[in-house]
Amino acid sequence: MLYSLARPLLFSLAPERAHELTLSLLKKAHKVGAMRQDVAAKPVTCMGIEFPNPVGLAAGLDKNGAYIDALAGLGFGFIEIGTITPRPQAGNPKPRLFRIPEAKAIINRMGFNNDGVDQLIENVKAAKFKGILGINIGKNADTPVDDAVSDYLICLEKVYNYASYITVNISSPNTKNLRSLQSGHALTDLLETLKKRQLELAEEHKHYVPLVLKVAPDLSEQDIQFIADQLLQFKIDGLIVTNTTLSRDGVENLPYGNETGGLSGAPVFEKSTACLAAFAQQLNGQIPLIGVGGILAGEQALAKQQAGAMLVQIYSGMIYTGPSLIPDCVNAMT
Ligand SMILES: Cc1cc2nc3c(=O)[nH]c(=O)nc-3n(C[C@H](O)[C@H](O)[C@H](O)COP(=O)(O)O)c2cc1C
Repeated sequence: MLYSLARPLLFSLAPERAHELTLSLLKKAHKVGAMRQDVAAKPVTCMGIEFPNPVGLAAGLDKNGAYIDALAGLGFGFIEIGTITPRPQAGNPKPRLFRIPEAKAIINRMGFNNDGVDQLIENVKAAKFKGILGINIGKNADTPVDDAVSDYLICLEKVYNYASYITVNISSPNTKNLRSLQSGHALTDLLETLKKRQLELAEEHKHYVPLVLKVAPDLSEQDIQFIADQLLQFKIDGLIVTNTTLSRDGVENLPYGNETGGLSGAPVFEKSTACLAAFAQQLNGQIPLIGVGGILAGEQALAKQQAGAMLVQIYSGMIYTGPSLIPDCVNAMT
């Protein structure tokens, strides 16, 4: 209700300004006890963790973990912060975020703008949140892709003690060559190295933190088969399907529809859900799946579940539908 009143004002502002304003207002409202939402309990056990409900916030909305408590107040079953990189970086030049309301879509080429992993950890320490926190890690733009593993290792080690699970993001289209890590030796090397370090860290800290991979929807059948084999070989704990798409289906003739970047929201739903179903078939229940991409109402959350997801995440739907999307999805899921 409140969101539908605020939406026209927010949509009259430049998208990135609206994003910042919404989060800072949400934080202020949270501090005085407003903007809290009660969501029915629907516990799900996944990757050895009990989630209070299966609907999470997708990565990228709170890149630095600066709004964890306020976002948690909206009733998410889990919150994923990041993508974070070892060193702070500015991201791509503005404008880099575009709304396409006619298609309930967003195109972004943010480019992992973030304050760096050390600041993220300070923010997590300052938060009161005791729920399920995913931390999504990536590489700095100026780290050559051949050295990407070292950036992921730095982040893995630093966030290990602060995360309920850690997501390895190799699927953003806005960091040059990042998606090349989804195939061949690059993927094998990355997963093998991170798995080995995860097990060492688990031993050191006497505490196992699941490792999750996040993939793009723009994958061929062979890519999906290869990635699924690698996930099984290295016993990766979960898979998030999917990030944004490079496709412009559904927006090509609309204002901003041909901006460079990743497309999210309603137009990515079919592609992302088909990708989810293909992974579900390959993995056959051996690795849990988290479905994300184009959930704008409860029925799409249910469709992700029917395609094989145990949990779902939302981002663009928060912009177009608002916080009521969270209970809608929880109630629609079985
Ligand atoms: C503005 C914006 C920034 C994003 N940043 C990230 C990010 O930093 N890391 C990441 O893994 N995904 C990022 N995503 C992708 C989302 O987490 C999600 O996978 C994608 O948008 C599809 O879901 P949706 O259709 O519900 O938005 C971003 C999406 C948007 C719209």
